[in-house]
Amino acid sequence: MARLAGLAALLLLLHLASAASASSNVLLGRKGSSVAAGQSAAAEEEEKAAASRFAVIFDAGSTGSRVHVFKFDSKLDLVPIGDDIEFFAKIKPGLSSYAGRPQEAASSILPLLEQAKKIVPTSLQKYTPLKLGATAGLRLIGDKKAEEILEAVQDLVHTKSKFQYNPKWITVLEGTQEGSYLWVALNYLLGKLGGDYSKTVGVIDLGGGSVQMAYAISTNAAANAPAVPDGKDPYITKEYLKGKDYNLYVHSYLYYGTFASRVEILKAKNGPFSRCVLRGFSGNYTYNGKEYDATASPEGAVYDKCREEIIKALNLSAPCETKNCSFNGVWNGGGGAGQDNLYVASFFFDKATQYGFIESEAPSAKSTPAAFKVAAEKVCSLSVKEVKAAYPNAFDLPYACMDLLYQYTLLVDGFGLDPTKEITLINRVKYGEYYIEAAWPLGTAIEAVAPKKMTLQDA
Ligand SMILES: *[C@@H]1O[C@H](CO)[C@@H](O)[C@H](O)[C@H]1NC(C)=O
Ligand SMILES: *[C@@H]1O[C@H](CO)[C@@H](O)[C@H](O)[C@H]1NC(C)=O
Ligand SMILES: *[C@@H]1O[C@H](CO)[C@@H](O)[C@H](O)[C@H]1NC(C)=O
Repeated sequence: MARLAGLAALLLLLHLASAASASSNVLLGRKGSSVAAGQSAAAEEEEKAAASRFAVIFDAGSTGSRVHVFKFDSKLDLVPIGDDIEFFAKIKPGLSSYAGRPQEAASSILPLLEQAKKIVPTSLQKYTPLKLGATAGLRLIGDKKAEEILEAVQDLVHTKSKFQYNPKWITVLEGTQEGSYLWVALNYLLGKLGGDYSKTVGVIDLGGGSVQMAYAISTNAAANAPAVPDGKDPYITKEYLKGKDYNLYVHSYLYYGTFASRVEILKAKNGPFSRCVLRGFSGNYTYNGKEYDATASPEGAVYDKCREEIIKALNLSAPCETKNCSFNGVWNGGGGAGQDNLYVASFFFDKATQYGFIESEAPSAKSTPAAFKVAAEKVCSLSVKEVKAAYPNAFDLPYACMDLLYQYTLLVDGFGLDPTKEITLINRVKYGEYYIEAAWPLGTAIEAVAPKKMTLQDA
């Protein structure tokens, strides 16, 4: 293990060295051409338009902070940086571990900022957007402490770098933003952008705290979207990408991510025990510092009874004021061609690999909601020990039945998918000779550098 970590560190160093030397070459070349004095603003604009565009994206997660630097050519295709298709570096711990110490929080990301500055040629830095998205976990330390940290980070970025700066770009990401950026990243990598909305793919992203659904709908359907109550994110997000307008239906269901859903399911038990917890477990489930009794019944989990508890937790009978609802009274977007080809990400992928119905090395795999049901039927009858023996790569074992059956029920009863519908479990997407993780930072970068509609009309 230690040797592996050492090797990884060495590889990172090598990678840094090669990336840095590659970028300094670019820098030299560019300097030579732009030194020509008296350059008019128009010429500078022209050079800027022709030049490759970089984007620096910070992903401030609960366990650590990461930086991604992406480089795009004028056709908005990704260009390698050094030996890889992006530059990536990370540090631990995450911003939220510095609650009440905003300066230390900001300083913690300085090494990542310095690395990004070495990658992006100096002359291009002022044209390079820098964005930081903190995942919702940062809010758990309290809104005020989270704001202090974000303000300190804004200050640091503004004073210690020349990247394009906008305080609004350094913020906590809403669940709907995570969903729409993932949609952008995935459709970009699959080469679907620039075509009709009906050719795009939809995505369900099962995180820890929330689950997001995102897919493109027709202009007509978007115009008729129901209003949302004040203060809630609207159902429709508009995107202009590769010369096309897209209307995205996006919804983030708070409380229905993997870790949060266990709380809702444990609350929905009928009687003293949840029938979703595996035989042999006794103890509490802890989430966000709160404890919930999760002791198994003597007979352990029972598939049918667990399913009843999950259906109750999904609030399927909540009033639907918008005609077509998924669950918990939420409008489902009306369905349509943008949802026909559906990709499911994050914990769907992880559980599928842990329970062996796809290979863990596979970047993606075709499956069906029913595959989760089959796995749950097997697992629910076992004890914690038996699951451990049968699935050595699985973890969070007491909740094995609960999690698998939740994923099945979420897809079929929550989102209304046919159990036999083909879906794609996705982790990474092949892009040229590279495999790229389908995740929101790339989507953010694409949106940040994509030509805006107004500048095109002006041209
Ligand atoms: C479970 O939580 C309850 C209530 O917070 C607490 O009294 C109990 O000691 C906890 N049990 C264990 C095994 O941690
Ligand atoms: C489920 O629906 C009920 C009634 O509409 C509501 O009070 C409750 O908060 C909902 N549960 C969740 C997790 O949103
Ligand atoms: C509800 O679904 C039906 C059938 O899919 C569709 O024709 C209708 O436009 C939808 N209405 C809304 C408000 O989503």
